[in-house]
Amino acid sequence: MQEETKKKYIEAGEVVQKARKEARKVAEPRTNLKVIAEEVEGLIREEGLEPAFPVNLSINDEAAHYSAAPDEDRELKSSDVLKVDIGAHKDGYIADTALTLNPSGEHREMIEASEKVLEEALGFVEPGVTVGELGTHIQNSVPDKYSVVRNLTGHYIDQYTQHAGVSIPNISSANTHVIEKGDSIAIEPFITTGSGKIKNGKKGNIYIQKGGKVRGRTERKLLKKIKDFEGLPFSSRWLNLNAREKMALKKLDNAGAVKHYPVLKEVEGGMVAQSEHTVLVGVDDGENIVTTKP
Ligand code: CO
Repeated sequence: MQEETKKKYIEAGEVVQKARKEARKVAEPRTNLKVIAEEVEGLIREEGLEPAFPVNLSINDEAAHYSAAPDEDRELKSSDVLKVDIGAHKDGYIADTALTLNPSGEHREMIEASEKVLEEALGFVEPGVTVGELGTHIQNSVPDKYSVVRNLTGHYIDQYTQHAGVSIPNISSANTHVIEKGDSIAIEPFITTGSGKIKNGKKGNIYIQKGGKVRGRTERKLLKKIKDFEGLPFSSRWLNLNAREKMALKKLDNAGAVKHYPVLKEVEGGMVAQSEHTVLVGVDDGENIVTTKP
C-alpha cells in the first residue's frame, strides 16, 4: 500500500471516529432519525470529507440498510436497539464502521457481546489468514445464547468501492482466499436473538447508481447529479428533490439505472446488534491499523 493511500485511509478513519462520538451524543430517545443522520453526516462534511454512504440507522430486527427519509417521521425509542453504520471517504478511500446503541440499556449484554466478537476478530486477522479461517474464528467467538447472522458479511474495500470483490463471512466457509499485507477490509459481525437469517424488507431510502440508459429530461438531469456520488451509495435526502424529480428517481429505479436497497430484517424478528471496524492489514511494520478505532 502506498504511503499516500494509507494516509487517506487513516484520515477517513479519524473522521468517522469523531462521527461515532457524535452518534452516541445525538441518539437520545425521542430524536427523529433524520436529525441523527444529518448530525452524523454533517460532522463528516464539516471535517472536509464526504459520507461514503448514507448513515444507516437500523432499529431492532432491522439489521442494516435503513436510512432516514427526507420526510422521516420515526423517532428513537429508549428501548430501541439502534445500529449506526457510518462511512466517510477521502478521495474514495473509505472508512466503514458501525456501533449499536440502546438508550435504556436493557440489551447491553448483546451489544457488548457483538463488540467482543469484533475485537476477537481484529486480534485474529493478519497476513496469511484465509477468509474461511477468519469466519470460523468469528463464528466460534459468538456466545451460545446468540446466533450469528449468516447471510450478512464483512467485505474488502477499494477506492470508491465499498464492497470490493471478496466478502468476509462471519461463519465457517471453505473460502481459501488469503488475506494479505496491504489489504483493506471491513469486519462486521452481526449477532441476534433470532435464528440468524436476514430477509429483504421495505425500501430503506438508500440508493446506488447502476448502468443503463434513461429517457426523459428530468431523469437525465437527475442521473447527472447522481454521478457526483462516484458510484457510492447515496440518500434522496442529499438531492433536495422536488415532486417531479421524486417521480424521476422512481423511474430511474424502475428502469434499473439506480437501485433502491431494501431494509435487511431478521426473519424471526430477533433483535440484532452489529459492530464494525475497518482494518489495513499488516501495514504498520507488519501490524494492523484499525483506522476507525482510537
Ligand atoms: Co461495512
